[in-house]
Amino acid sequence: MSTEAFPIVVLISGSGSNLQAIIDAIDNKMLPIDIKAVLSNKANAYGLERAAAANIPTHIISHTDYPDRESFDAQMIEVIEQYQPKLIVLAGFMRILSAQFVQQYAGKMINMHPSLLPKHKGLHTHQRALDAKDEKHGCTVHFVTEDLDAGGIIAQMECDIDETDTADSLQQKVHQLEHKLLPEIISWIADNRIDQKKSLT
Ligand code: GRF
Repeated sequence: MSTEAFPIVVLISGSGSNLQAIIDAIDNKMLPIDIKAVLSNKANAYGLERAAAANIPTHIISHTDYPDRESFDAQMIEVIEQYQPKLIVLAGFMRILSAQFVQQYAGKMINMHPSLLPKHKGLHTHQRALDAKDEKHGCTVHFVTEDLDAGGIIAQMECDIDETDTADSLQQKVHQLEHKLLPEIISWIADNRIDQKKSLT
């Protein structure tokens, strides 16, 4: 059996608290994986500092430097391929991906989404859960397909929505769930406990 840690690449656009949760799980020997690189489309993403502090190679690929989505994605593929990852993790990566990119990593790319999908695809999910008077909210890890936030669901965690909750308090509750769920699901995939062929449905 190979003792080499399972190689992943993480894509971010912002704070990177989910990235930090993965880094912490690795440090605590809970997660036998290797974050080969972190890519960000934003130069000022705080997650880049978190990656650097953990000695993980970082790449800033700014979408504004490319004429269209396809050429930006092609550049990302070129960088990602240097690392030969077995899994791509979208952890707060705020760009819609081209068909070409999604097909390249079909069954090998997951996203963390801050709602109980199929409810509240897209943005502003906490406010939308409040507006819809939902009793529950939460987060979903799913495979990435060409349809936004619609790929096969791998796992969810939920919390109650209380009368006093605001979009900010819900965001905090959901973040806590995300930080538990994401490392767990990555470990399942690394252990081959998820059928990646089911990802496209
Ligand atoms: C998370 O809420 C995640 O569900 C969504 O973007 C947010 C990223 O947060 N896709 P962070 O950058 O990991 O702190």
